[in-house]
Amino acid sequence: MVIYDKSRKVFKLDTANTSYVMGVTEEGYLGNIYYGKKVDTTDLVYAMRTDEHPFTPSKMPGEKISFMDRFPMEYPFEGTGDSHGGCISIKDSKGQEGLELKVKSHNIYAGKKGLKGMPSARGGNTMSLDIVLSDEALGAEAVLSYSVYEECDIITRSVKIVNISDTSFYITKVLSACLNLETEVSDILSLHGAWARERHIQRSKISYGSYITESSRGEPGHQEHPFIALLSENCNRETGSVYAMNLVYSGNFTVKVQKDQFDRTRVYIGINPERFCWKLGSGEEFEAPEVIIQYACEGINSMTRNFHDFFRQYILPPEWVVAERPVLVNNWEATYFDFDDDKLVQIAEEASGLGIEMLVMDDGWFGHRNSDNSSLGDWYANREKIKGGLKDLADRINALGMKFGIWFEPEMVSPDSDLFREHPDWILALDGREAGLCRTQYVLDFSNPDVVDYIYGRLYEILKSANIEYVKWDMNRPIAEAASLSLPPDRQGEVMHRHVLALYRLQERLVTDFPHLLLENCSSGGARFDAGMLYYSPQIWCSDNADPVERLMVQEGTHLVYPLSTTGTHVADSPNHVNGRVTPFSTRADIALAGTFGYELDVTRISEEERAMIPAQIEKYKKYRHLIQTGDYYRIASFSENNRYDSYMVVSKDQNKAILVYVQVVTDSNVLTKKLKLYGLCPGRKYIVDGAEYLGSTLMNAGYILKPLRGDFQSVVIEINSTCTTA
Ligand code: DGJ
Repeated sequence: MVIYDKSRKVFKLDTANTSYVMGVTEEGYLGNIYYGKKVDTTDLVYAMRTDEHPFTPSKMPGEKISFMDRFPMEYPFEGTGDSHGGCISIKDSKGQEGLELKVKSHNIYAGKKGLKGMPSARGGNTMSLDIVLSDEALGAEAVLSYSVYEECDIITRSVKIVNISDTSFYITKVLSACLNLETEVSDILSLHGAWARERHIQRSKISYGSYITESSRGEPGHQEHPFIALLSENCNRETGSVYAMNLVYSGNFTVKVQKDQFDRTRVYIGINPERFCWKLGSGEEFEAPEVIIQYACEGINSMTRNFHDFFRQYILPPEWVVAERPVLVNNWEATYFDFDDDKLVQIAEEASGLGIEMLVMDDGWFGHRNSDNSSLGDWYANREKIKGGLKDLADRINALGMKFGIWFEPEMVSPDSDLFREHPDWILALDGREAGLCRTQYVLDFSNPDVVDYIYGRLYEILKSANIEYVKWDMNRPIAEAASLSLPPDRQGEVMHRHVLALYRLQERLVTDFPHLLLENCSSGGARFDAGMLYYSPQIWCSDNADPVERLMVQEGTHLVYPLSTTGTHVADSPNHVNGRVTPFSTRADIALAGTFGYELDVTRISEEERAMIPAQIEKYKKYRHLIQTGDYYRIASFSENNRYDSYMVVSKDQNKAILVYVQVVTDSNVLTKKLKLYGLCPGRKYIVDGAEYLGSTLMNAGYILKPLRGDFQSVVIEINSTCTTA
């Protein structure tokens, strides 16, 4: 619900359990009054504190700058007194930077307007509010848009800048949102990592000054993540307050948490202003990406469940939310570049007999690519390897009753490629310098529409040429040189964002032209796992590291925000190709249950014993995949915290079915058997667990005692059924 109380000049956005309140001062400034547990009145102007201190300009014009520095501005602007560093900065035609935004008008409406050319949450039973802020001297407007998703306790925000002057100006910074928090937040929860170690959870203390997490690699990267949560003191999985923000964006981002002299915490999120500068001509608009915001008051698990519900309902492609994802075998770790069509068919023959539903042909099928140093851009089948052509291969796979999928890396070109030889000016490069290589490849200049159209044409032709039902879209290097030969000097600061816009445009075209295609994004493992990409692809390859122990931490961090069904999880070889760890086949499969299950190994080469286990593993996944895809996720224990074991549950929405997954990473000697308190069950309902009957409240309070497991790297998946379903 969205309310405007005209007499008090107060906006109030209510979700099921929260309120977000803003007020307009006498001078026209928009202030953030309150965000937190639901309040039942708009009588909250006192909380803006304009009466409490004497600096309000209408009362004491001589202290305007002091006011600017302490007022909780809803969308703070730079250069006119707020020394925190705000959300927006604009350089005018005279080269000066500074603006002052005041409320001009507002509009409350049912539904939601999407962003143009960028992913944003889909509307539903949503109410929205647009507030137009304007700086008349500059001729600039900032339209703040809010949409309320009541049942998920989520609000989305975005900002559109409009040039209503008759000259161009330059946007040098445009963040999507900030929150002014006066309430007691004390900790920061964020996600960090590296290649093969993505999205590990980090918890740290908020202290005076600033904490920044950001990316300047042209994608979020393995290292940082466009998510932040601020927690109340002692907040844990089940209790305490959480303020969380997640940016719907797949490029350079910044997140800043700042504790100021007044003990107030501001948290900002948006496009990284570093190497960003957007020229906005007279009459033009610029939209900053959407941010998903929530306040959850029942601990970290409640934040996670809100995000999961929201992603499933409003971000993921609707067709794939409930549709079952095929169990796949991918040939990357099975063969790397050393394969041909007969080898793939041989893998598929074995795989289909075991119950695997799709074969994905990974890197190496095009141009003359036999290693990672050639042929990107030459999207034609290599007829030495794919001897009968793509259609013939797809038909042979289909004849086995399996689907066929294929790998692309559309944003890149190899120096050794026909495409680069023909168009050496189609790459991002600083004029007069040799462009830097990474994995022996260049980034294509997506600011140039000819490049984007050419690449789309190739993708389109390939996908039309055969029955290809799945695409893995990879990106294996960061962007370094934000420099385009196709843009004029005063638009070079647009390159990084233009790349992301073109990427979105391409994926939009792809899923529009091939509406039933299953798209899986990937970036050298999980370097571009974000809400923006999830709008087009319901699943993203989570990490190149499929070692089950490492995956516990990667998956825990990923599932802190994103639903299990978004996570590419495969059973790979042991010893693991990345870290050499040896683990049981059964544990690798149990850990891969928390996502879109598949195999990343050569099923023709593994031992008879392991091969014999596959049908039962697939049956287990198929039995639980609907639950995993649609249920509520509860984190119970974390290996990254206790260094010994890990556990989570998924509970069906009707609370009748659940699974408990437990992994004993390190065995304990001479300790009591593990007792776990379960979550999410109905307290008064009876449940059968391993043949015994318990009351839900018993399992959640007194706990469930696991049968002892022997040895390191052991796992168990326990089914929990209410007696309503077993009767
Ligand atoms: C990186 C991906 O994460 C891998 O799964 C694989 O597709 C390789 N790229 C192929 O180059």
